[in-house]
Amino acid sequence: MRRDALRLFFQRLVLATLPLTAGCSTQVDGGNPDLASTGVIVLDGGFPDGGNCSDYCAAPERCIITPTDAGTTLIQCYTDHTGRRPATLRPAALAAGESELGRLFAQMAHLEAASVHAFQTLAGELRAYGATDRLVAAALRAADDEVRHTRLMSGLARQFGGQPVAPEVDPPASRSLEEIALENAVEGCVRESFGALVATWQAHAACDPTVRRAMMVIAADETRHAELAWSIAGWSGTRLDGTARARVAEARQAALSHLRLETTREPGAELVSRAGVPSTAHAQTLLAAFTLEVERRAAA
Ligand SMILES: [Fe+2]
Ligand SMILES: [Fe+2]
Repeated sequence: MRRDALRLFFQRLVLATLPLTAGCSTQVDGGNPDLASTGVIVLDGGFPDGGNCSDYCAAPERCIITPTDAGTTLIQCYTDHTGRRPATLRPAALAAGESELGRLFAQMAHLEAASVHAFQTLAGELRAYGATDRLVAAALRAADDEVRHTRLMSGLARQFGGQPVAPEVDPPASRSLEEIALENAVEGCVRESFGALVATWQAHAACDPTVRRAMMVIAADETRHAELAWSIAGWSGTRLDGTARARVAEARQAALSHLRLETTREPGAELVSRAGVPSTAHAQTLLAAFTLEVERRAAA
């Protein structure tokens, strides 16, 4: 398989899907963002004991719970995919801020910073399980990329009035090769890979030139991380038995189902226009083609 196969696939898919009439006006409709449409839910009082994200968000394990000084609680559903969550990432309490763009980029900066830990841990695990020097070096390079992404997204968050928050990550526990392969299937082959595709879209569709430039860098790096995820999947697949491989395939399918749920929420108008976040219809078109590509690669 060509090393730049995913990059070409993402580029062609984005250019084929991007509306020819797309343009950037200086006026964005809906100056006062509707919190519900941007995935932020406001609760009167605190987060209920025993409650969890799935009570409020389409993606069961992803939300940010933020108590406010006014006694309400903001629940922000995660819709960002441009990074790898380490297994020991603690739930975040991000400052909500007024601007939906600021919230988006603060959320992205948080996940990018968490991804540094994920790749550092992965590099150590690959080495411990006897992976090639090339795979280990690629994971270490990805960790360095994520440092740069954190800087870029933190800068955009501040530019739009958001407040980036450093992730809290507990020390990694020792893991079996199957556990590593499961995480790689979900976080790498599905989520980070789809994040690379969405970043490619944003690099073309964002009206804000600083966002476009940042997403160009991120799209190129994340596509390389996506290729790394598939290389790790190939390497680990030859070392797992059939039952373990079936569990990895099941986890990959479940992650695709989660993405389908997550792309049912319509992003706010400013996110679509200035940040180039794909509308629900565009995200679903991208995801349908992406799913076929994931299935093709998994079967190869
Ligand atoms: Fe990444
Ligand atoms: Fe990243």
